[in-house]
Amino acid sequence: MRVTGGVQTAAAARAAEGTPLRSSLDTGSAEYRANREAQLALLRQHDEQLDLARAGGGPRYAERHRARGRLLARERIELLLDRDAHFLELSPLAAWGTEFTVGASLVTGIGVVSRVECILIAHDPTVRGGAANPYSLRKSLRALEIARRNRLPVINLVESGGADLPTQSEIFVPGGKIFHDLTELSGLGIPTIALVFGNSTAGGAYVPGMCDYTVFVDRQAKVFLGGPPLVKMATGEDADDEELGGARMHAQVSGLADYFATDERDAIRLGRRIVSELNWRKLGPPPSLPADEPAHDPEELLGIAPADVRVPFDPREVLARVLDGSRFGEYKESYGTSLVTGWASVHGYPVGVLANARGVLFSEESKKAAEFILLANQTDTPLLFLQNTTGYMVGTSYEQGGIVKDGAKMINAVTGSTVPHITLNMAASFGAGNYGMCGRAYDPRLLFAWPGSKLAVMGATQLAGVMSIVGRAGVGPALRRGRRRAAAAGDRDPDRAGVARLLRDRAAVRRRADRSPRHPHRARHRAVRRALRPGRGTPRLRRVPDVTA
Ligand code: COA
Repeated sequence: MRVTGGVQTAAAARAAEGTPLRSSLDTGSAEYRANREAQLALLRQHDEQLDLARAGGGPRYAERHRARGRLLARERIELLLDRDAHFLELSPLAAWGTEFTVGASLVTGIGVVSRVECILIAHDPTVRGGAANPYSLRKSLRALEIARRNRLPVINLVESGGADLPTQSEIFVPGGKIFHDLTELSGLGIPTIALVFGNSTAGGAYVPGMCDYTVFVDRQAKVFLGGPPLVKMATGEDADDEELGGARMHAQVSGLADYFATDERDAIRLGRRIVSELNWRKLGPPPSLPADEPAHDPEELLGIAPADVRVPFDPREVLARVLDGSRFGEYKESYGTSLVTGWASVHGYPVGVLANARGVLFSEESKKAAEFILLANQTDTPLLFLQNTTGYMVGTSYEQGGIVKDGAKMINAVTGSTVPHITLNMAASFGAGNYGMCGRAYDPRLLFAWPGSKLAVMGATQLAGVMSIVGRAGVGPALRRGRRRAAAAGDRDPDRAGVARLLRDRAAVRRRADRSPRHPHRARHRAVRRALRPGRGTPRLRRVPDVTA
């Protein structure tokens, strides 16, 4: 964000002028209680999945890891962070619903180390030796992207068996981007640090290789392009781990280690010291407004959004529980009323807010949004998008009225906007509304989603209808069957139930195919695991002619 005293002061003054929002939420009503119950149930489901991510590879691997005298990934993070500092975990449920462990064998997040906000990327060695699968790769790259966009120093907590071998073909080529991004960050003046707690071999060796600062733990760090068996195959040389890539060797001989740590706690202490010596200063203006609490209780956020995403709600009720002092200066209040826009502040930072009110975006909303985004850019004011949209309006009169062009104006404005964007999906984010409201493809600095929020090309009922109209390849009859069954079972919304049943059936067919021992992916996976088993040797690798990395 550019720092220009005049416009910042104007933005701050405007946000301070906001009128405190009044709330008409009836916390004693049956509707409020039902919404709250539904949200709490969703949060419980969410917590169950978070527990799975926290469990990593499970008790057996965790105990084995501890028996080796090592700390778990989350314990390393906890010790690295300032006492009682917050840790905003990122992508905690990556790989959910896939054959890989929830969390994708990696913990990433923003945490405060020596009073500096940093991105932390920690391998979880209890999950397949910390090997990176396609989801770990995407999670790592997203964390590095967040570091670049928000100018946050990066600390890698390294202990990984490199690429997940059964899926190496999916990660080898895109995986190079991790090393590319570490170098790029460094070139942009964003420091990168590697604390090496264990294995970091083959491609993984380039993580400490690319980082500005490296700390290696004695008798644990192993950083080499090829381990002893590979070296034996390639050159006939007999080498041991320590000579090839141990901490002492790298600190005294190769020079790859900048700091030698006697144990893990020492490495964490050195990591904190490195950050404290960066003399790091955040860019951008500090908070310029009072960061007072909202006038309405944020706990009541639980009772605002109905469980059914098709039921609209007033986003002002959400804003009243999020904005400083609940102050909000609404812009074009009586025009394009399906979109609420206005000026406010969060934690003392002025923001412009765009929030969907009744789902559909019409031409008026699109033009209002485009103007508002330009105004925010004029005064360098960050934007907060609160999504709850079913997309742009369809129909002859709207097409003739130019809805495509008007929607494009809004999407153009989002694309061209250079102020920081933060997006929250509160309920629905369907169709091109997702683009206009700064969905993932439009690069928000951070994107959050409430449990139960939905993201799709359209809602389930519309999908059911459209699929049955254009239905080919048996989808139409299958849908009609599902709808009939749902209606017979007394379902109040047979359209929705029909499409849900169809999607469930298709997912089950896919899962059955994935579990089949004849599935080519599983056969490959079994072969690689056999080759990795201790004492088995690596017969396949012997036939690999090129052993350089
Ligand atoms: N890909 C997929 N699975 C891997 C893996 C990898 N790169 N590395 C380890 N695993 C699996 C093992 O097969 C084992 O699975 P299992 O428990 O179901 O049998 C599990 O992870 C734990 O491995 P294990 O060897 O028992 O753990 P460890 O802590 O003693 O050793 C490593 C961890 C990473 C040092 C060791 O497994 C290793 O050297 N792996 C191969 C590393 C490699 O060659 N990588 C190439 C990278 S490009």
